[in-house]
Amino acid sequence: MIILGVETSCDETALAVVEDGKLIRSNTVVSSLKEHKKYGGIIPEIASRRQLQCIHSVAQQALDDANVTLDDIDAIAVTVKPGLMGSLLVGISFSRALAVALNKPLIEVDHIKAHVYANFLRKPGDDRPLPKLPAVGLVVSGGHTSLFHIKEFNTFALLGQTRDDAAGEAFDKVARILDLGYPGGPAIEKSALTAKKSDLQFTCAQLPDTLDFSFSGIKTAVLYHKRDHSDQPDFSVSQVARAFQDSVTHVLVKKCMMACQQLHCQTLLVGGGVSANKYLREQLMGEAERHQIDVHFPSMDLCLDNAAMIAGLGFHEQLQNV
Ligand code: KG4
Ligand code: ZN
Repeated sequence: MIILGVETSCDETALAVVEDGKLIRSNTVVSSLKEHKKYGGIIPEIASRRQLQCIHSVAQQALDDANVTLDDIDAIAVTVKPGLMGSLLVGISFSRALAVALNKPLIEVDHIKAHVYANFLRKPGDDRPLPKLPAVGLVVSGGHTSLFHIKEFNTFALLGQTRDDAAGEAFDKVARILDLGYPGGPAIEKSALTAKKSDLQFTCAQLPDTLDFSFSGIKTAVLYHKRDHSDQPDFSVSQVARAFQDSVTHVLVKKCMMACQQLHCQTLLVGGGVSANKYLREQLMGEAERHQIDVHFPSMDLCLDNAAMIAGLGFHEQLQNV
Protein backbone atom coordinates (compact mmCIF):
# COMPACT_ATOMS: atom_id res chain seq x y z
CA MET A 1 0.00 0.00 0.00
CA ILE A 2 1.40 3.39 -1.02
CA ILE A 3 0.55 6.28 1.28
CA LEU A 4 1.09 10.00 0.77
CA GLY A 5 1.86 11.61 4.14
CA VAL A 6 1.17 15.29 4.85
CA GLU A 7 2.67 17.12 7.84
CA THR A 8 2.12 20.84 8.52
CA SER A 9 1.83 21.08 12.30
CA CYS A 10 4.57 23.68 12.90
CA ASP A 11 6.92 25.51 10.52
CA GLU A 12 7.44 22.65 8.07
CA THR A 13 5.55 21.80 4.93
CA ALA A 14 6.41 18.13 4.60
CA LEU A 15 5.10 15.49 2.21
CA ALA A 16 6.33 11.93 1.79
CA VAL A 17 5.53 8.72 0.00
CA VAL A 18 5.91 5.54 2.06
CA GLU A 19 5.26 1.96 1.00
CA ASP A 20 3.65 -0.53 3.40
CA GLY A 21 4.38 1.61 6.43
CA LYS A 22 8.11 1.01 6.14
CA LEU A 23 9.92 1.91 2.94
CA ILE A 24 10.51 5.63 2.37
CA ARG A 25 10.08 6.31 -1.34
CA SER A 26 10.38 10.09 -0.85
CA ASN A 27 10.54 12.51 2.05
CA THR A 28 10.35 16.21 1.16
CA VAL A 29 10.57 18.91 3.83
CA VAL A 30 10.45 22.66 3.25
CA SER A 31 10.80 24.81 6.35
CA SER A 32 10.13 28.50 7.00
CA LEU A 33 12.44 28.34 10.05
CA LYS A 34 14.81 31.02 8.74
CA GLU A 35 12.01 33.57 8.66
CA HIS A 36 11.17 32.94 12.33
CA LYS A 37 14.74 33.12 13.65
CA LYS A 38 14.78 36.88 14.14
CA TYR A 39 11.71 36.61 16.41
CA GLY A 40 13.28 33.88 18.58
CA GLY A 41 10.36 31.49 18.03
CA ILE A 42 7.74 30.36 15.52
CA ILE A 43 5.27 33.03 14.37
CA PRO A 44 2.10 31.07 13.49
CA GLU A 45 0.90 33.58 10.86
CA ILE A 46 4.15 33.36 8.89
CA ALA A 47 4.22 29.56 9.16
CA SER A 48 0.70 29.00 7.80
CA ARG A 49 1.09 31.58 5.02
CA ARG A 50 4.25 29.90 3.75
CA GLN A 51 2.60 26.47 3.98
CA LEU A 52 -0.33 27.67 1.91
CA GLN A 53 2.06 29.04 -0.69
CA CYS A 54 4.21 25.95 -1.11
CA ILE A 55 2.13 22.86 -0.29
CA HIS A 56 1.24 22.12 -3.93
CA SER A 57 4.81 22.26 -5.17
CA VAL A 58 6.12 20.24 -2.20
CA ALA A 59 3.48 17.59 -2.94
CA GLN A 60 4.55 17.44 -6.57
CA GLN A 61 8.19 17.14 -5.50
CA ALA A 62 7.38 14.26 -3.13
CA LEU A 63 5.52 12.40 -5.91
CA ASP A 64 8.31 13.04 -8.43
CA ASP A 65 11.03 11.92 -5.98
CA ALA A 66 9.10 8.70 -5.34
CA ASN A 67 8.56 8.21 -9.06
CA VAL A 68 4.80 7.85 -8.61
CA THR A 69 1.71 9.76 -9.74
CA LEU A 70 -1.46 10.51 -7.78
CA ASP A 71 -3.04 7.41 -9.40
CA ASP A 72 -0.52 5.22 -7.58
CA ILE A 73 -1.46 6.58 -4.14
CA ASP A 74 -3.74 4.27 -2.11
CA ALA A 75 -4.48 6.65 0.75
CA ILE A 76 -3.56 10.05 2.21
CA ALA A 77 -2.42 10.36 5.82
CA VAL A 78 -2.37 13.76 7.48
CA THR A 79 -1.37 15.17 10.88
CA VAL A 80 -4.53 16.31 12.64
CA LYS A 81 -3.06 17.08 16.09
CA PRO A 82 -1.32 18.56 17.97
CA GLY A 83 0.04 21.70 16.35
CA LEU A 84 -0.56 25.30 15.32
CA MET A 85 -4.19 25.62 14.29
CA GLY A 86 -3.61 27.64 11.11
CA SER A 87 -0.79 25.34 10.01
CA LEU A 88 -2.74 22.15 10.69
CA LEU A 89 -5.66 23.55 8.70
CA VAL A 90 -3.50 24.00 5.61
CA GLY A 91 -2.44 20.34 5.61
CA ILE A 92 -5.87 19.01 6.56
CA SER A 93 -7.73 21.08 3.92
CA PHE A 94 -5.23 20.08 1.24
CA SER A 95 -5.43 16.40 2.17
CA ARG A 96 -9.23 16.36 2.42
CA ALA A 97 -9.61 17.97 -0.98
CA LEU A 98 -7.14 15.51 -2.49
CA ALA A 99 -8.85 12.52 -0.89
CA VAL A 100 -12.26 13.63 -2.19
CA ALA A 101 -10.92 14.38 -5.68
CA LEU A 102 -9.13 11.02 -5.91
CA ASN A 103 -11.81 9.08 -4.03
CA LYS A 104 -9.13 7.66 -1.70
CA PRO A 105 -9.24 7.19 2.10
CA LEU A 106 -8.08 10.00 4.36
CA ILE A 107 -6.27 8.83 7.51
CA GLU A 108 -5.94 11.08 10.56
CA VAL A 109 -2.61 10.77 12.36
CA ASP A 110 -1.38 11.98 15.75
CA HIS A 111 1.94 13.80 15.35
CA ILE A 112 3.36 12.72 18.74
CA LYS A 113 2.78 9.02 18.20
CA ALA A 114 4.22 9.38 14.70
CA HIS A 115 7.52 10.64 16.20
CA VAL A 116 7.94 7.24 17.91
CA TYR A 117 6.85 5.46 14.73
CA ALA A 118 9.84 7.00 12.90
CA ASN A 119 11.86 4.10 14.34
CA PHE A 120 10.02 1.69 12.04
CA LEU A 121 10.86 3.53 8.82
CA ARG A 122 13.61 2.37 6.49
CA LYS A 123 15.33 4.07 3.57
CA PRO A 124 16.06 1.93 0.48
CA GLY A 125 19.00 -0.37 1.21
CA ASP A 126 18.60 -0.15 4.99
CA ASP A 127 17.93 -3.73 6.08
CA ARG A 128 18.24 -3.29 9.84
CA PRO A 129 15.68 -5.43 11.67
CA LEU A 130 12.64 -3.55 12.97
CA PRO A 131 12.30 -2.91 16.72
CA LYS A 132 10.21 -5.38 18.68
CA LEU A 133 6.96 -4.47 20.46
CA PRO A 134 5.90 -4.02 23.23
CA ALA A 135 8.11 -1.03 23.90
CA VAL A 136 8.47 2.07 25.96
CA GLY A 137 8.36 5.18 23.76
CA LEU A 138 9.88 8.54 24.67
CA VAL A 139 8.85 11.58 22.62
CA VAL A 140 11.01 14.64 23.24
CA SER A 141 10.04 17.50 20.97
CA GLY A 142 9.52 21.25 21.03
CA GLY A 143 5.96 20.88 22.28
CA HIS A 144 5.92 17.55 24.11
CA THR A 145 7.77 15.29 26.47
CA SER A 146 5.85 12.06 26.91
CA LEU A 147 6.47 8.46 27.84
CA PHE A 148 4.23 5.77 26.35
CA HIS A 149 3.74 2.06 26.69
CA ILE A 150 3.29 0.82 23.15
CA LYS A 151 1.76 -2.64 22.82
CA GLU A 152 0.72 -2.36 19.18
CA PHE A 153 1.13 0.41 16.63
CA ASN A 154 -2.30 1.70 17.55
CA THR A 155 -2.15 1.15 21.31
CA PHE A 156 -0.26 3.93 23.02
CA ALA A 157 -0.83 4.19 26.78
CA LEU A 158 0.45 7.43 28.30
CA LEU A 159 2.79 6.70 31.22
CA GLY A 160 3.96 10.21 32.01
CA GLN A 161 4.45 13.64 30.50
CA THR A 162 5.79 17.06 31.29
CA ARG A 163 3.79 19.11 33.75
CA ASP A 164 5.02 22.38 32.26
CA ASP A 165 7.64 23.03 29.55
CA ALA A 166 8.59 20.39 27.01
CA ALA A 167 12.26 19.36 26.85
CA GLY A 168 12.74 21.08 23.47
CA GLU A 169 10.97 24.16 24.75
CA ALA A 170 13.40 24.26 27.70
CA PHE A 171 16.36 24.02 25.27
CA ASP A 172 14.86 26.86 23.22
CA LYS A 173 14.18 29.09 26.24
CA VAL A 174 17.58 28.48 27.83
CA ALA A 175 19.30 29.21 24.50
CA ARG A 176 17.39 32.47 24.40
CA ILE A 177 18.52 33.35 27.94
CA LEU A 178 22.11 32.59 26.90
CA ASP A 179 21.77 34.52 23.60
CA LEU A 180 22.55 31.40 21.59
CA GLY A 181 19.76 31.87 19.04
CA TYR A 182 16.85 29.77 17.77
CA PRO A 183 16.27 26.83 17.57
CA GLY A 184 17.94 26.34 20.92
CA GLY A 185 18.57 22.60 20.93
CA PRO A 186 21.34 22.45 18.32
CA ALA A 187 22.80 25.74 19.64
CA ILE A 188 23.06 24.44 23.23
CA GLU A 189 24.48 21.13 22.04
CA LYS A 190 27.17 22.93 20.03
CA SER A 191 28.03 25.32 22.83
CA ALA A 192 28.17 22.51 25.44
CA LEU A 193 30.77 20.70 23.33
CA THR A 194 33.25 23.54 23.84
CA ALA A 195 32.79 23.70 27.64
CA LYS A 196 35.68 22.96 29.95
CA LYS A 197 34.84 20.65 32.83
CA SER A 198 33.37 22.53 35.79
CA ASP A 199 31.47 21.95 39.02
CA LEU A 200 28.49 23.94 37.80
CA GLN A 201 25.26 21.99 38.24
CA PHE A 202 21.59 22.62 37.65
CA THR A 203 18.94 20.21 38.86
CA CYS A 204 15.68 19.31 37.16
CA ALA A 205 12.69 18.64 39.37
CA GLN A 206 12.76 14.88 39.93
CA LEU A 207 9.04 14.25 40.66
CA PRO A 208 9.98 10.94 42.28
CA ASP A 209 7.60 7.98 42.02
CA THR A 210 6.05 9.34 38.85
CA LEU A 211 7.02 9.17 35.21
CA ASP A 212 6.16 12.86 34.79
CA PHE A 213 8.71 15.56 33.99
CA SER A 214 9.12 19.23 34.79
CA PHE A 215 11.55 21.52 33.00
CA SER A 216 10.39 25.00 33.89
CA GLY A 217 12.34 25.16 37.17
CA ILE A 218 15.71 24.50 35.54
CA LYS A 219 15.04 27.25 32.99
CA THR A 220 14.46 29.71 35.85
CA ALA A 221 17.60 28.45 37.63
CA VAL A 222 19.62 29.24 34.48
CA LEU A 223 18.00 32.66 34.24
CA TYR A 224 18.94 33.51 37.85
CA HIS A 225 22.43 32.09 37.44
CA LYS A 226 23.02 34.35 34.47
CA ARG A 227 21.53 37.36 36.26
CA ASP A 228 23.78 36.82 39.29
CA HIS A 229 27.01 35.65 37.64
CA SER A 230 27.28 36.97 34.09
CA ASP A 231 29.54 39.87 35.16
CA GLN A 232 32.00 37.55 36.88
CA PRO A 233 35.22 36.61 35.08
CA ASP A 234 34.64 32.86 35.35
CA PHE A 235 31.10 32.99 33.89
CA SER A 236 30.99 30.76 30.83
CA VAL A 237 28.00 30.33 28.51
CA SER A 238 29.26 26.97 27.31
CA GLN A 239 29.58 25.66 30.88
CA VAL A 240 26.00 26.73 31.60
CA ALA A 241 24.85 25.07 28.36
CA ARG A 242 26.66 21.89 29.30
CA ALA A 243 25.34 21.78 32.88
CA PHE A 244 21.81 22.37 31.61
CA GLN A 245 22.09 19.67 28.93
CA ASP A 246 23.57 17.22 31.48
CA SER A 247 20.70 17.72 33.88
CA VAL A 248 17.91 17.42 31.29
CA THR A 249 19.57 14.33 29.84
CA HIS A 250 19.99 12.79 33.28
CA VAL A 251 16.27 13.01 34.11
CA LEU A 252 15.18 11.80 30.66
CA VAL A 253 17.46 8.77 30.86
CA LYS A 254 16.42 8.01 34.44
CA LYS A 255 12.67 8.06 33.68
CA CYS A 256 13.12 5.93 30.55
CA MET A 257 14.93 3.26 32.58
CA MET A 258 12.27 3.50 35.32
CA ALA A 259 9.50 2.99 32.73
CA CYS A 260 11.25 0.01 31.15
CA GLN A 261 11.80 -1.61 34.56
CA GLN A 262 8.23 -1.00 35.75
CA LEU A 263 6.73 -2.48 32.58
CA HIS A 264 9.39 -5.20 32.12
CA CYS A 265 10.03 -3.80 28.65
CA GLN A 266 13.20 -4.63 26.76
CA THR A 267 12.67 -2.15 23.92
CA LEU A 268 12.95 1.64 24.13
CA LEU A 269 11.95 3.80 21.16
CA VAL A 270 12.99 7.46 21.18
CA GLY A 271 11.73 10.20 18.85
CA GLY A 272 11.18 13.94 18.38
CA GLY A 273 13.56 16.83 17.73
CA VAL A 274 15.51 16.54 21.00
CA SER A 275 16.37 12.92 20.18
CA ALA A 276 18.76 14.36 17.58
CA ASN A 277 20.93 15.42 20.54
CA LYS A 278 24.09 13.32 20.45
CA TYR A 279 24.79 13.56 24.17
CA LEU A 280 21.28 12.31 24.98
CA ARG A 281 21.69 9.49 22.45
CA GLU A 282 25.05 8.44 23.98
CA GLN A 283 23.75 8.51 27.53
CA LEU A 284 20.61 6.57 26.65
CA MET A 285 22.64 3.98 24.75
CA GLY A 286 25.03 3.54 27.69
CA GLU A 287 22.29 3.08 30.29
CA ALA A 288 20.21 0.89 27.96
CA GLU A 289 23.18 -1.41 27.50
CA ARG A 290 23.66 -1.61 31.25
CA HIS A 291 19.99 -2.60 31.68
CA GLN A 292 19.99 -4.87 28.60
CA ILE A 293 17.45 -2.73 26.83
CA ASP A 294 17.34 -2.48 23.08
CA VAL A 295 17.22 1.28 22.37
CA HIS A 296 16.31 2.75 18.97
CA PHE A 297 16.57 6.25 17.53
CA PRO A 298 15.43 7.44 14.11
CA SER A 299 18.10 8.76 11.73
CA MET A 300 18.78 12.46 12.36
CA ASP A 301 16.45 13.73 9.61
CA LEU A 302 13.62 11.54 10.90
CA CYS A 303 13.98 12.88 14.47
CA LEU A 304 12.74 16.26 13.25
CA ASP A 305 9.29 16.92 11.83
CA ASN A 306 8.67 15.00 8.60
CA ALA A 307 5.79 13.41 6.71
CA ALA A 308 7.32 9.93 6.31
CA MET A 309 6.46 9.20 9.95
CA ILE A 310 2.86 10.32 9.27
CA ALA A 311 2.51 8.10 6.20
CA GLY A 312 4.15 5.21 8.10
CA LEU A 313 1.85 5.30 11.12
CA GLY A 314 -1.07 6.06 8.77
CA PHE A 315 -0.53 2.66 7.15
CA HIS A 316 -1.21 0.88 10.46
CA GLU A 317 -4.19 3.10 11.25
CA GLN A 318 -5.61 2.20 7.84
CA LEU A 319 -5.02 -1.54 8.37
CA GLN A 320 -7.06 -1.30 11.54
CA ASN A 321 -9.89 0.50 9.73
CA VAL A 322 -10.38 -2.06 6.94
O1 KG4 B 1 10.05 17.35 16.84
P1 KG4 B 1 10.40 18.74 16.45
O2 KG4 B 1 11.10 18.95 15.13
O3 KG4 B 1 9.13 19.65 16.43
C1 KG4 B 1 8.08 19.51 17.35
O4 KG4 B 1 7.22 18.61 17.14
O5 KG4 B 1 8.11 20.29 18.33
O6 KG4 B 1 11.28 19.31 17.65
C2 KG4 B 1 11.78 20.61 17.66
C3 KG4 B 1 12.55 20.80 18.97
C4 KG4 B 1 13.03 22.22 19.18
O7 KG4 B 1 12.68 22.62 20.50
C5 KG4 B 1 14.55 22.11 19.04
O8 KG4 B 1 15.28 23.04 19.84
C6 KG4 B 1 14.79 20.68 19.50
O9 KG4 B 1 13.70 19.95 18.97
N1 KG4 B 1 16.06 20.13 18.98
C7 KG4 B 1 17.08 19.74 19.75
C8 KG4 B 1 18.12 19.35 18.87
N2 KG4 B 1 17.67 19.50 17.58
C9 KG4 B 1 16.40 19.97 17.67
N3 KG4 B 1 17.22 19.71 21.10
C10 KG4 B 1 18.39 19.29 21.60
N4 KG4 B 1 19.45 18.92 20.83
C11 KG4 B 1 19.36 18.93 19.47
N5 KG4 B 1 20.39 18.57 18.71
ZN1 ZN C 1 7.40 17.13 16.02
